[in-house]
Amino acid sequence: LHFYWHRPPLELVEQQSRDPDTVRILLNGCFDLMHVGHFNALRQAKRLFFQQGYKKVVMVAGIHSDEAISNQKGPPMMSNDERTAILEATKWVDEFVTQLPYTQISVQMADTLRVKWVCHGDDMPVCRGGHGMYSAVVEEKRFQVLKRTEGISTTQIISRIIQQQGWSQHQGEAGGAGEALSSALCTAQRLQQFAAPPGDRPPKQLTAAKRVVYVPGIFDLIHPGHVSILRQAATLGDFLLVGLYSDETVTVHRNHGKPPVLTLLERALAVLSMRWVDDVVLGAPWNVTDELLTSMNISCVVLGRAPGASQEDSDQFLVPRRRDILTELTSCFAISSEALKQRLIACSAELVKRNSKMMEKELSYISGKGYVPEA
Ligand code: CTP
Repeated sequence: LHFYWHRPPLELVEQQSRDPDTVRILLNGCFDLMHVGHFNALRQAKRLFFQQGYKKVVMVAGIHSDEAISNQKGPPMMSNDERTAILEATKWVDEFVTQLPYTQISVQMADTLRVKWVCHGDDMPVCRGGHGMYSAVVEEKRFQVLKRTEGISTTQIISRIIQQQGWSQHQGEAGGAGEALSSALCTAQRLQQFAAPPGDRPPKQLTAAKRVVYVPGIFDLIHPGHVSILRQAATLGDFLLVGLYSDETVTVHRNHGKPPVLTLLERALAVLSMRWVDDVVLGAPWNVTDELLTSMNISCVVLGRAPGASQEDSDQFLVPRRRDILTELTSCFAISSEALKQRLIACSAELVKRNSKMMEKELSYISGKGYVPEA
């Protein structure tokens, strides 16, 4: 069994595993087209152990290799490096393990990683060969189940894209959502939990900030390009505010009359999962106006671009440019939403095939699921 473990010095890890106030936990997955379901699993796992009284919870996130995902579900849409970059930027993740095969998580593996508990959503995966991925740790009473987030998954996102693009006429072929909810539910409490810093740190207040940095955008299907811009933008001030355009605004101004793949609230929950983001404006105005800048006490506006993207911009940024508070940043990753879209188009037939198999599994989980409380 081979994998790469990105961790602090082993001495520190050992110290943590001996400390009765610290718990080390593992949550593994494919984390392809990383979405609110993935983020919510990481968030819940961390919170659950804090609720049990631990003072420190160390989250080790495990990520399956491209090859393992291809064999189990079909080729991933994002490469190992891209999936890892997003996971690394997630505020509930402390260490990560890459290139994991899709095999049973053994007690020996949990011990090697010095994790006391292994966590997963209540959709328990079965490996090729028929054995449960978590049977061994369940037997040892070292498994913690989490509420799987309704209305979203990699499969459901692909299904939305297939339907939006009209790649399949047939529900079955497309992996149509059937009785599944069409989006993740977003309660005020869920939004608040995502906005909160991990652990027991108090949230940063915009009113206490000396320099608010504002990054407006769509942030549909979060990718390493977004991550790179947010990481750089955070260094420009002491409060990072992301402006998210509403689904209607995106449909009118971009996307040739098509809404984004993810709803405004799904996009907001994903952006709030990034470790540098302090708050979001839900339904931000398309143009950055004087009134917006004054109301939110914004000192710096960021315009992010993928490397090689065209320099022209519309009237959107006229005001911050005139005020000389516009900073243009280039992402360190070549990926952009457009490049991701082209990648999906290039393998549309394969995606339709993958999804008819995966959606069947997902609908069977949905019809059989029971209530699991969310942490
Ligand atoms: N997860 C979740 N809620 C979702 C989707 C995933 O809690 N809506 C959890 C899973 O239970 C698992 C982790 O996220 O603990 C990683 O799951 P993964 O298999 O990568 O994600 P899916 O989106 O379910 O992928 P697919 O649709 O390809 O099966």
